[in-house]
Amino acid sequence: MVRGMAESILRWLPVLLLFFFAAVLVTACSTPMGNPEDGKRWYSMHNCFACHGPNGNDGKAPVVSSLEMSHWRFKRIIRNAGSPIMPKYPKEKISAQDVADLYAFLKAK
Ligand code: HEC
Repeated sequence: MVRGMAESILRWLPVLLLFFFAAVLVTACSTPMGNPEDGKRWYSMHNCFACHGPNGNDGKAPVVSSLEMSHWRFKRIIRNAGSPIMPKYPKEKISAQDVADLYAFLKAK
């Protein structure tokens, strides 16, 4: 019984792996390309500069210029920094595209 189950899991393993990699690929490809010029606009429009400084490294909050974190982590922080100070920005306020723009802007800065 147990052996039969292990065998059927093994038989389906390649299919499961295929689904897994397809899902990873789709997630990676659905990250929009960021436009740094637009990111610059969102940075001032959403008042990021008030805490992080006009240059991203001259505010009271942590440095965000020349950003090295992953896009995934950056997005999570924008949605919810887990900080009592930094506001949460749901997608109604900053869309996935705008997050990508901000990311491109700060990475290049
Ligand atoms: C009211 C002040 C405030 C505003 C406005 C604000 N932040 Fe923040 N931000 C913070 C603080 C404080 C932290 C540190 C949070 C912590 O580590 O607990 C932070 C953390 C971050 C981090 C993580 C930095 C790191 O290295 O861990 C990023 C990235 C970031 N902010 C980007 C932004 C962007 C982009 C905007 C505008 C859309 C923004 N913040 C608006 C205060 C602010």
